[in-house]
Amino acid sequence: MAKTLNLRIYPDPILREKAKSVLKEQLPTEEFRQLILNMEQTMNENEGVGLAAPQIGISRQLCIVKTGDGTLVLINPRIKKLSWKKQTGEEGCLSIPGVFGQVRRHHKISVTTLRGDGKLVTFTAEGMLARIIQHEVDHLNGVLFIDRTKEITEGKDILEKMKEASV
Ligand code: NI
Repeated sequence: MAKTLNLRIYPDPILREKAKSVLKEQLPTEEFRQLILNMEQTMNENEGVGLAAPQIGISRQLCIVKTGDGTLVLINPRIKKLSWKKQTGEEGCLSIPGVFGQVRRHHKISVTTLRGDGKLVTFTAEGMLARIIQHEVDHLNGVLFIDRTKEITEGKDILEKMKEASV
């Protein structure tokens, strides 16, 4: 049974840590499989399109992304920017509820990652999928969309209150 995990909310310091690599020997364990199921349920319950492990208090390089075909699991992912072309679009984050902003992201990327079964794969993504992957991989490096946004479009006051709480 999957369970919904508590989300870490900005300015929780774990969101600013660089996550450690997932060890290959962790992958086949029941504990790891259960963690992915729990993350998937947590993402779905909160109506998110992606979730990174630091957001549930685990500083490891693991994130999940919702796609039309189900949930994509990315373990120790590396992004190569394929396109000079960038696109601006609106983003939010389950760890910064109520805040939205415009962020410029690469339109097309190449991702090399371990999958849940331990296989190393490389694939390309573009558009919205590429945007979500860039957002989630940022989380693994302690970077949040509010660091990259050009304009907060919603929740400016909420963000200011959150920032005050961090000092
Ligand atoms: Ni996020």
